[in-house]
Amino acid sequence: MLENHIVHSAKNLSGEIFVPGDKSISHRSLILLSISTGKANVKNFLESDDCKATSNILQKLGVKISIDSNNTYSVEGVGLYGLKAPNENLDCGNSGTSMRLLCGLLSAQSFQSRLVGDTSLHSRPMDRVAVPLREMGAIIKLSNNNTAPIEINPTKEVLPIEYNMHIDSAQIKSAIILSSLYAKGKSKITENHKTRDHTENILKHLGVDILRKENTIIINPPKKLISKDIVIPGDISSAMFFIVASLISKDSKILIENVSLNPTRTGGIEILKMMGANIEVINKERDGPEIFGDIIASSSHLKGVEIPTKYIANAIDEFPIISIAAACAEGKTILQNAKELRFKESDRLLAISKGLEKCKIKNHLSDDGIEIIGGKIHGANIDSYDDHRIAMAFSIAGIVSKGYMKILNTKNISTSFPNFYDLMRNLGVKCERSIES
Ligand code: S3P
Repeated sequence: MLENHIVHSAKNLSGEIFVPGDKSISHRSLILLSISTGKANVKNFLESDDCKATSNILQKLGVKISIDSNNTYSVEGVGLYGLKAPNENLDCGNSGTSMRLLCGLLSAQSFQSRLVGDTSLHSRPMDRVAVPLREMGAIIKLSNNNTAPIEINPTKEVLPIEYNMHIDSAQIKSAIILSSLYAKGKSKITENHKTRDHTENILKHLGVDILRKENTIIINPPKKLISKDIVIPGDISSAMFFIVASLISKDSKILIENVSLNPTRTGGIEILKMMGANIEVINKERDGPEIFGDIIASSSHLKGVEIPTKYIANAIDEFPIISIAAACAEGKTILQNAKELRFKESDRLLAISKGLEKCKIKNHLSDDGIEIIGGKIHGANIDSYDDHRIAMAFSIAGIVSKGYMKILNTKNISTSFPNFYDLMRNLGVKCERSIES
């Protein structure tokens, strides 16, 4: 059975919306509060399949997590050394963040564990975390292709590490940081481009001595983490779909309230502004570990740009939707040095290129990027490649397409943004769900 959606064109998008809590911060809040001392609440937790996978795994490791009300999760921390050996496989579903971060945490424990996931997750590279973790003394076995299942054997001692990141990846960085909490000395991680720093921010919030000197993060292993409530802002990666919807639609203005504005996540906004987007950020403030605020996006005349490499790490999840903005822009948009996009929930460069081709938008694919020539988007049958962000990006394209857009296999959207189509409908966009065998 395949779940599909048909999206019809619309204009005059206007309204005030909230998008669900940030996915990266939701995973990290639960993981870090689980190994803290004391009980605390996570407010506005993202109740998506990916984050629920993390929650289920932590419960199998002996952590008590209860849902109080309105997406508030209450976590009874077991302390740094209180996790219990699981008696079954730990299923990460589609979630790379769950698998890579938990691999870091579990590789430092004195018990055995086995991380598994769905077919898509089992095709993604895991040696990128296993290699530095093994340097820290971890005993990790991967499949012959360096993918999951990941078998982790009990560790005797965690060694501190000095590691230079050769891939810009917050998941690798966070896996190393989680393991380094258990090391017998200070660890140092140096990044080429600063990636999302939510792990570092939450650790500071929980009293850990972790600091950044230029591009190097220094972690001093703590005796304990002290539980403290965490409020999760809306996910800017989810907000981006509605920001672009408003930019490319006629006579439109959308206000998105309470969105994460962490500078390691706003690369997409910078790129859109370069393209001429009318985006205004208001009411910026900090609550606990993160900065958030409101975003107003209005109809814009977008122009193609050459995307600066410095923005890529901080816009890494936004290229499916930026490609739709580029398809609606005047002229050519060029993305280079973005090979990482080939290792996401799908090969995103290929999925974007194939989808745009079907919509009659000219594009040229290269090994590490894509050139997109703006034009008129035509409705088509689009394969989501079982990737939530491809499904959502082409759903947004349907708002401005000539003829309706049919997106095949949209169930994956529940991994990050379960009420995506409800918000579309609230803004007046006609979306029909169909189930086909
Ligand atoms: C994430 C990091 C990014 C991003 C993913 C979430 C995280 O992955 O694409 O959706 O929460 O750390 P990489 O670390 O592979 O860049």
